[in-house]
Amino acid sequence: MSRFATRRLALAAAALITLAPAAFAQAPIVIKFSHVVATDTPKGNAAEFFKKRAEELTGGKVKVEIYANSSLYKDKEEMEALQLGAVQMLAPSLAKFGPLGVKEFEVFDLPYLFDNYAELHKVTQGPVGKQLLDKLESRGIKGLAYWDNGFKVMSSNKPIKTVADYKGQKMRIQSSKVLEAQMRSLGVLPQVMAFSEVYQALQTGVVDGTENPPSNLYTQKMHEVQKHVSVTEHGYLGYAVITNKKFWDGLPADVRGQLEKAMKEATDYANKIAKEENDHALDAVRKSGKTEVVVPTPQEKLALKKLLVKTHEELGARVGKDLMQSIYKETGFDPAKL
Ligand code: LMR
Repeated sequence: MSRFATRRLALAAAALITLAPAAFAQAPIVIKFSHVVATDTPKGNAAEFFKKRAEELTGGKVKVEIYANSSLYKDKEEMEALQLGAVQMLAPSLAKFGPLGVKEFEVFDLPYLFDNYAELHKVTQGPVGKQLLDKLESRGIKGLAYWDNGFKVMSSNKPIKTVADYKGQKMRIQSSKVLEAQMRSLGVLPQVMAFSEVYQALQTGVVDGTENPPSNLYTQKMHEVQKHVSVTEHGYLGYAVITNKKFWDGLPADVRGQLEKAMKEATDYANKIAKEENDHALDAVRKSGKTEVVVPTPQEKLALKKLLVKTHEELGARVGKDLMQSIYKETGFDPAKL
């Protein structure tokens, strides 16, 4: 190579190095948002809404990549990935924070703790909910919001009409000690399993049944492998949207503010569509003709409630008695009055 050519090469390399920081500065900040449910669910749709608004409000400075249906990580892996910074955002169900060492979130799994969304929102949109999110910070996680799904139904391949029917059945649960106790109080053998594995476990008979809001049951096609659904509405399933704290704190202040706004809007959206989507999903399950859907009578529901509410006493110490009492105070729930 001639001296002239070598010099030209050196100049080109220097120019590249000078240009590089500018090129990097323009590259969008990527938020990988991983979740385990289908896109057409309250969480899936809210994540899409957040993506749209986050990209609009930041003028393209942020790009949100959504990985739905456990396509990137399954339940347990996604928590680890967030802590390691391999993903930046998740919305795990409140029943999945125990393995992280923040067992207080399992309070939301206590059966019949909330009768409706209005009672629930007093907690999730109020000071108690905020205090709970703050507990995540010591784990390197920032809690951004609560997103609703809904009230759970029971499903099984064996009849589940009366309280006695549950005895001896095997049912899949999420990784929550409260849910384990709830199932044991019915004589059910609970089995913790990742959400992505439930359909196959139901299909092959590894478990007889499970619990979930209708939106999850329907969009995972679980109703195709479950003969019975009972609309027990015995517990709530919702989410905490979380991010890696180091990532969040390191964002430029203006971008963080825009993302906070996008999250606020997405939260309003999520909590607006959740009930409607669950009602629609339950209707679709009924119409599929593949599953017998029963609605317990008020007496049957009361029998179930009386039995399951014992879980509050049993697991109060795990989730925190003071926390449980402060939720009772917000919602007016009184187990003694049953
Ligand atoms: C489940 O595992 O049943 C749910 O947590 C799935 C979800 O994210 O709604």
